[in-house]
Amino acid sequence: MNGSVFVTGGAGLLGVTWAAAMRDRCKVTLGLHDRAIALRGVETRRSDLESVDALARTLDAVKAELVVHTAGMTNVDACEAEPECARHINVELAANVAAACRRLGIGLVHISTDHLFSQTGDPLREEDALSPVNVYGRTKAEAELRVLDAYADALVVRTNFYGWGPSYRQSFSDTIIKSLRRGDRPTLFTDVHYTPILMDALIAGVHGLVEKKARGVFHVTGDDALTKHEFGVRVAECFGLPAGLVQRATLADKPSLAKRPRSMMLSNAKASALLGRRIGGVREHLATLRQQEQSETVKEIQSL
Ligand SMILES: NC(=O)c1ccc[n+]([C@@H]2O[C@H](COP(=O)([O-])OP(=O)(O)OC[C@H]3O[C@@H](n4cnc5c(N)ncnc54)[C@H](OP(=O)(O)O)[C@@H]3O)[C@@H](O)[C@H]2O)c1
Repeated sequence: MNGSVFVTGGAGLLGVTWAAAMRDRCKVTLGLHDRAIALRGVETRRSDLESVDALARTLDAVKAELVVHTAGMTNVDACEAEPECARHINVELAANVAAACRRLGIGLVHISTDHLFSQTGDPLREEDALSPVNVYGRTKAEAELRVLDAYADALVVRTNFYGWGPSYRQSFSDTIIKSLRRGDRPTLFTDVHYTPILMDALIAGVHGLVEKKARGVFHVTGDDALTKHEFGVRVAECFGLPAGLVQRATLADKPSLAKRPRSMMLSNAKASALLGRRIGGVREHLATLRQQEQSETVKEIQSL
């Protein structure tokens, strides 16, 4: 795409990767909160999401045509411990971002999650009823409603992603790879199913949907459903690491953690149909992840 993209949560895992993926194709501005970072070819701005007026002024100043709202309180256990804070950040700030985008008449991609259901069975579709099991999921579910209520043209993207993160913010695949390279034995759930996607595939899919003028809720996830343990084994195999070190656990083995859904599998059929292509599965995404490791872009991200 051409034009100007503003990414909230600019120092976060997805925000940094979004900027690196798009900076050669359009102007990217990262909206920062507490953490200051600098990325080649990317503008950064402290951005206050508490005030619709202040945010609208910032978006106007950078001539934003599309906002990608990735900022949020993303640690599930921290959300459980501080529900008011989680609700404020995940719901109220998202509603502010939607209000500012609507006022300026610019595009909005709101990043949601797969952490929204308690039912098990087939991968969930966009129209299935939400039934979150913890504070994080409840705040993300409420945020979707508030965002679409404030701005019906918004694109709400449910996802769960991995890729190469900065030193201060590791993704699930980073954690598995580092742990196995140290010779540790990562313990992963055999009873949690999900449909993970490589961040770059997510970003490409979302921009494809934006070009198609998609609005409302879309699942942008990988084509394959698997357990977290199976994902760990697949990562190990792809990186030539000892898969036998990946240990099994069930949710019942970790009673101190906030309650988690057993099934976070999302069907990407709606997004795939509109894009007119497959989104891609674990095998190809992990192969890309491995190729990316030696790239200058990933080295730059990891040096943050
Ligand atoms: N990570 C995953 O696998 C995953 C899975 C499903 C969905 N998601 C969703 O994807 C989105 C991005 O996740 P992520 O993992 O990239 O997040 P992350 O790495 O935890 O980053 C979150 C960002 O939000 C910013 N932020 C926190 N409080 C803020 C506030 N009060 N005002 C402004 N900014 C604030 C943080 O800034 P500072 O660090 O400067 O405070 C940080 O840059 C989130 O909406 C999350 O719910 C993530």
